Amino acid sequence: MKKIPPATLEHVAGNGLLSRRHLLGFSLAGISTIASSAAFGADAGTLFEIPAWSKQPGPGATGYGAPSSFAGNLQRQAGAPNPLYPGGGSSRSPLQHLQGTITPNSLHFERHHSGIPDIDPAQHQLVINGLVRQPLVFSYEALLAYPMVSKIYFLECSGNSGSLFGNSAAEGSAQSLHGLVSCAEWTGIPLATLLEEAGVQADASWVSAVGADASSMGRSIPLDKAMDDVLVALYQNGEPVRPEQGYPMRLFVPGWEGNISVKWLTQLKLTAGPSQFRDETSKYTDTMKDRRSEQFTFPMGTKSVITSPSGQMALTRRGVYQVTGIAWSGSGSIRRVEVSADGGRTWADAEIESHQSDKALTRFRIPWQWSGAEAILMSRATDSTGAVQPSRTALLEERGNLAQYHFHGIQSWGINAAGEVSNVYA
Ligand code: MTE
Ligand code: CO
Repeated sequence: MKKIPPATLEHVAGNGLLSRRHLLGFSLAGISTIASSAAFGADAGTLFEIPAWSKQPGPGATGYGAPSSFAGNLQRQAGAPNPLYPGGGSSRSPLQHLQGTITPNSLHFERHHSGIPDIDPAQHQLVINGLVRQPLVFSYEALLAYPMVSKIYFLECSGNSGSLFGNSAAEGSAQSLHGLVSCAEWTGIPLATLLEEAGVQADASWVSAVGADASSMGRSIPLDKAMDDVLVALYQNGEPVRPEQGYPMRLFVPGWEGNISVKWLTQLKLTAGPSQFRDETSKYTDTMKDRRSEQFTFPMGTKSVITSPSGQMALTRRGVYQVTGIAWSGSGSIRRVEVSADGGRTWADAEIESHQSDKALTRFRIPWQWSGAEAILMSRATDSTGAVQPSRTALLEERGNLAQYHFHGIQSWGINAAGEVSNVYA
């Protein structure tokens, strides 16, 4: 472990942002400005006390794994059940406790309009009808025989981060404010394969998808998107799609607002225009400042969120921290993430993974030296189309705050002198 005196740290932007080269090659704890006795050192002797778990065999293999009992606080966060809205509601991914870019299936966010149906795949059917040459009915078993593809994609509810439209900064964690986004490897049949088999008629230009849950949730998808990268997804991170995510099959519409990825998919109807489902007329539409409403806002915006340090955490020592978070875009891949520690006055490029997938989460990191003074951390993403994540102020100037969907502005974590982190408007 190479220790570097604080004086040789290379600063790249205001208020303590450090060069990405400091992420490698030495311990960040070693350059803490206060002495740390927790690492190897004076206490090394205690290492020779053999812990209880090393003295006897543990239980044997299990059928289906579960996390360590010491990691039991790793939970989705759900709102209180509402008796007037049975099964309705959502749960959020614990972004501040996750690393990398893949969300474990048990922690993928959920959004249900009528709860989770308990579907027997042997009795479930997928119908393709409407403006097709030959209407088709597929059983689950029949679909399993089709060639499949596997792709890593994020899914984000358009209501995610909606509280940031509010006039005062809501209290919350990365999870409670932004946890309606997750990312998984989805395996399924390209929708184009199934539509080609049914034979799309020349006057068809939309596909209406309907779910088998009690809400019969439906959404209309333009045919060119349906023929492009949409999947009928059967697997999620290698195992059958979870009931919460649409077992036995869901539509997966990459990069677009989560609502359109219809779960428990049972019907695809080719139509000449959109079907004007409830969720594309009274819901998921965006009312602009002039009270005109935009009916369809499909791709999710270019966005990033710092997941650590983040809301409701506390910095317990002065010194170097790894600032890390996730970035994504519904229109392509992430090319750049900049971080500011001084409320947006100066910015530095964070390290992002060398390979970025389209419409997937990208992890970013940058080292930062906290002096013990107040700081405001922000991140700003740029995607492969050149789109730059706007400031919250710019987003509100453009769109107003009558709509509660599609917030993708820059969010700020304020850190006070006690090290407490909270959502602030900068
Ligand atoms: N599909 C059906 N049939 N019923 C639903 O309630 N919720 C939608 C969409 N598809 C929903 C649905 C919404 S609003 C979102 S954000 C995503 O599913 C959530 O997918 P997830 O629960 O797998 O995260
Ligand atoms: Co949603």
